[in-house]
Amino acid sequence: MAQTVLILDFGGQYKELIARRVRECSVYSVVKPGEISVEEIKKINPIGIILTGGPNSVYKEDSPHCSKEIFKLNIPILGICYGTQLLAWSVGGTVEPCSVSEYGKTKMKVDTNSLLYKDMDKEQIGLMSHTDQITVLPEGFKSIANTEHCPNASIENPDRKLYGVQFHPEVESTPNGTQIIKNFLYNVCGALGDYNLIDFEKNAINEIRAQVGDSHVLLGLSGGVDSSVCAALLSKAIPGQLHCIFVDHGLMRKNEGDEVEAAFSDRDLHFIRVNAGEKFLSALKDIVDPEQKRKIIGAKFVEVFEEESNKLPDIKFLAQGTIYPDVIESGGSKAAVIKSHHNVGGLPEDMKFSGVVEPLRGLFKDEVRNLGRQLGLPDELVDRQPFPGPGLGVRIMGTITAEKIAILQEADAIFREELKKNNVKADQFFAVLTDTKSVGVVGDFRTYDYTVALRAVKTSDFMTCEYVPIPHEVLGPVALRIVNEVEGAGRVVYDITGKPPATIEWC
Ligand code: XMP
Repeated sequence: MAQTVLILDFGGQYKELIARRVRECSVYSVVKPGEISVEEIKKINPIGIILTGGPNSVYKEDSPHCSKEIFKLNIPILGICYGTQLLAWSVGGTVEPCSVSEYGKTKMKVDTNSLLYKDMDKEQIGLMSHTDQITVLPEGFKSIANTEHCPNASIENPDRKLYGVQFHPEVESTPNGTQIIKNFLYNVCGALGDYNLIDFEKNAINEIRAQVGDSHVLLGLSGGVDSSVCAALLSKAIPGQLHCIFVDHGLMRKNEGDEVEAAFSDRDLHFIRVNAGEKFLSALKDIVDPEQKRKIIGAKFVEVFEEESNKLPDIKFLAQGTIYPDVIESGGSKAAVIKSHHNVGGLPEDMKFSGVVEPLRGLFKDEVRNLGRQLGLPDELVDRQPFPGPGLGVRIMGTITAEKIAILQEADAIFREELKKNNVKADQFFAVLTDTKSVGVVGDFRTYDYTVALRAVKTSDFMTCEYVPIPHEVLGPVALRIVNEVEGAGRVVYDITGKPPATIEWC
């Protein structure tokens, strides 16, 4: 078992990022709520603890605090932002509102005699975002960094192995932030750097075998990254015992169903592809309302999945591609609940299993992708952008017909191909088929065809997004190709709306 660093969450938006940075330094990390008990910490036996930032003021009674015993455990601790204020306040320092709040990239001078800044330049940039600061240091502490307005931008008590930074080392705007985290891990905590995905895979395989024995396991494969990597890992761990149901609802992108099938064709698992396009299409006939489309697709998915799983032998376990951010967001609960936001519409409620297998529940998305590569999955699959469960069903405005699906699949494929060729970076990009027809002219003929809308966005969390300013030299040829090559598409527009107010999908 690899050494573990414990990250205690005090409500900051960057807890996942901190945990990922630690793992990037080859040290395993787990995130737990700030109010964790000392007994639980002892069970985890961390080599170090990091206290995250948070929006509160530590001197207010209702702000989140941790047990003061934590500071007496002789475990190295690094406080970040609110975490450093909490650390200082808990061991006798004073925290007060800043006379000048600091926001954004801020110059600072650091003490390179400290283990935290060893071998670094004396001048550093840190991302600041605070309205409180440490005004009186606790006994035995000294300042090891200062900015123009913040004399205690970083503090230490090396004897007690307690460190704090007012800035955010985990974000890219702190250019040497990862080095500072690395210094804490290796210089202060004595990290060995013993976390890697090769060992993770070996351990996961052993754990899966121990949990499942010779029972059979069912996995709903959507073709997305998480369920695909989960399938690849399980098929390696329990060859012959995994049954994957891939419901092809006919609303996948061009060739996607075949690509998913091909990716699993040489693996030791029972791959069941259900070509249910006709069923979905007839259930969606004449439906215009987006929410109703989602409900119908979700319900049909459950029906098809159930029908297919009933044909299987005795299944004991349900496997899911739950990943660490899902676990953190659901409060870190260990309860094996069926993922409520399952890609399409959830699974049949009355399906009974003796247990749930979630081998990826400790991994972040980038680690899942790397594990997928390690397991030999193709890049197109592991680097896949998010794709909504209801598929093109939420990208076709108005009624859904076979003709409209075909137009959209072709236009979308051209758009994706051109963006790739021109190296345009976007977190999600796709075509939408609007319900608007417009007049065009081809040769001597008037046409009356559909308008295709293109969307490409940059986002880190999909809660907000900005449109990608794709150069006109790229957009022009995309439009030309779509109207020339796709029968039924007569006009192309580019969506330049951010979220909010617009959502990423059109319906
Ligand atoms: P919106 O359109 O809400 O999309 O800005 C945010 C992210 O969620 C995806 N999305 C869905 N995913 N089922 C899904 O599995 C859905 O019904 C659904 N609707 C939107 C969308 O693609 C984007 O990544």
